[in-house]
Amino acid sequence: MERKRTLVTAALPYANGPVHIGHLAGVYVPADIYVRYLRLKGENVLFIGGSDEHGVPVTIRARKEGITVQDVVDRYHYLIKDSFERFGISFDIYSRTTSEIHHKMASDFFRTLYDAGKLTQQTSEQFYDEETKEFLTDRNIRGECPRCHSAGAYGDQCEVCGATLSPDELINPYNALNGNTLTKKATTHWYLPLDRDEGWLREWILEEHKEWRPNVYGQCKSWLDGGLRPRAVTRDLNWGIPVPVEGAQGKVLYVWFDAPIGYISNTKELCDSHPELGSWETWWKDESTRLIHFIGKDNIVFHCIVFPAMLHAHGGYILPDNVPSNEFLNLEGDKISTSRNWAIWLNEYLDELPGKQDVLRYVLTANAPETKDNDFTWKDFQARNNNELVAVFGNFINRAMKLTEKYFDGKVPTTSELTDYDRATLAEFAGVKDEVEHLLDEFKFRDAQKAAMELARIGNKYLAETEPWKLAKTDMARVGTILNLSLQISANLAIAFEPFLPFSAEKLRNMLAMKTFEWNQLGSTDLLPAGHPLGESVLLFEKIEDEVIQAQLDRLARIKAENEAAAEAEAQKNWRPKDIKEPTTFDDFEKTDIRVGTVISCEKVKKSDKLLCFKIDDGLGERTILSGIAQSYPHPEELVGKQILFVANFPPRKMMGIESQGMILSAANADGKLVLTTVSASVRNGAQVG
Ligand code: 2FM
Ligand code: ZN
Repeated sequence: MERKRTLVTAALPYANGPVHIGHLAGVYVPADIYVRYLRLKGENVLFIGGSDEHGVPVTIRARKEGITVQDVVDRYHYLIKDSFERFGISFDIYSRTTSEIHHKMASDFFRTLYDAGKLTQQTSEQFYDEETKEFLTDRNIRGECPRCHSAGAYGDQCEVCGATLSPDELINPYNALNGNTLTKKATTHWYLPLDRDEGWLREWILEEHKEWRPNVYGQCKSWLDGGLRPRAVTRDLNWGIPVPVEGAQGKVLYVWFDAPIGYISNTKELCDSHPELGSWETWWKDESTRLIHFIGKDNIVFHCIVFPAMLHAHGGYILPDNVPSNEFLNLEGDKISTSRNWAIWLNEYLDELPGKQDVLRYVLTANAPETKDNDFTWKDFQARNNNELVAVFGNFINRAMKLTEKYFDGKVPTTSELTDYDRATLAEFAGVKDEVEHLLDEFKFRDAQKAAMELARIGNKYLAETEPWKLAKTDMARVGTILNLSLQISANLAIAFEPFLPFSAEKLRNMLAMKTFEWNQLGSTDLLPAGHPLGESVLLFEKIEDEVIQAQLDRLARIKAENEAAAEAEAQKNWRPKDIKEPTTFDDFEKTDIRVGTVISCEKVKKSDKLLCFKIDDGLGERTILSGIAQSYPHPEELVGKQILFVANFPPRKMMGIESQGMILSAANADGKLVLTTVSASVRNGAQVG
């Protein structure tokens, strides 16, 4: 029987920075677990990866650093490739979209669509820099924000007021890279008319792929329900794959057009140099191949709608069978961000915590953001290592090995009669294979790893309860049975964990001197014959001390402080007073009774992050006022004795069960911090301001 054929792809990371734990948890660790599992089952599988080296961000980085774009992508491509290798991501090929094969493949792909009339053409006016003779992308255009009037808003967003913008809305737009003012110029682009694909996409995804993860299915449904529009597949840029059409000078394929074709080119590159793998076309065009794309959630529309529409328009290609996409992983409660350096970079992790690949793999799978966003914390990393990998898995193996060395000269002992407890233990782990397998087939990696870990728990409990070390003086036959069984469980662990923790599984196999093993053996109780000599025992996992974790937390604290300082400086730079309000009258102003009072006490309102409770001497007595400025005053008691301004004639209002009798006046700083208003010299409490 021919082996099942599965082509697994993992999103091609942008070569504009190293990869971080968010990428690993979302894409590369689950993809690697899946391919290792399929290989172990003896299936025919290829795992395709590579760097995504086109697009605008690499060009911006190159300009900033004063180097060529090729230098930028070379630097990150090799850094990423090397870190993946060190981390055990077992790609069959990790290539790049600047390769010659890829340029030709993507160019031919476009040309086929073009020749078959599958693309439409549209001309529109875009921002243009007359001096550098370039059209600008949204992110490269800056100007005054039409909403809050701060300077330096981007063509797609104002970072001060958060407004989503289009470049046309900016006041006095300029080129972000050189400050030049911009003009408008007509430009022509080619579009993939996705509106024409709606019918078959709805049928294919919404009817035929109801088994896709709810987050993936749901996102596709909302795109399809919203109506698809034509998407431009070319850009005015000088970095990328030239549009292979006469008169298209200065235009390249849009990065999201060429990147997924990278999966195909990389398969071709691999198969061309390894004829035993068959032709690349079998992998991409034979209906019996299963195609699985591992991606992060921001890539769903491209892999479930745009790329399939491209493949469909081209004709002859298979479509993905499944697109297991994850949600996002946060770091210590905050969104991971490359630009703010809020991340754990894989290359740094490998340097700073050498030999701990599997710990990170374990923690990222245990916390995998499969159904919702999840959080990575260093404390959890330490706890999972110390309490699960060391205390359960490692401890069990270590005891089984050491006791066998001590009592049986490192050879697997023979079994004598089994007790009921032995049989109950065997029954407990008999179901593990089916369970892990079923969960992996459904891309439930988190639960699958948990189920595999159950084996170690069973083993640990078995040793703790049978206490063979106490029986050594009286009943060696019984000790032999217990250790034989424990070693069989250990061998099962080596198989079950091979997809999840490949480095530790290998160490364990070496300890057990297991030469051959395959997934199908999982669940057997005779993996190691009696008399089989074991290898040398080493520690499978080591405790991680507090200092190691503290050093990582200190690093993050430093980055947080730097980011806050940078945000503050940016806010100060862009700050501008608001426009003066509509004219008012003296009579209107007079209606508001503003007075001076002295703070008698001030404390945080319990269970509220924002509110401070002031007691004010207002000249007539004591007045309570609540004010939402707690975040600007972390030490409210320091305000006692200060004279402040407040509105005295607002109707009383109850908040958090306290009645507030007025409003304290404050002014907002550029960073949003509120500052109380006061008088320049002492006056009588109750004096009116006016
Ligand atoms: O989001 C990203 O990082 C993209 N570089 C992923 C591309 S996936 C594929 F299409 F190549
Ligand atoms: Zn704004």
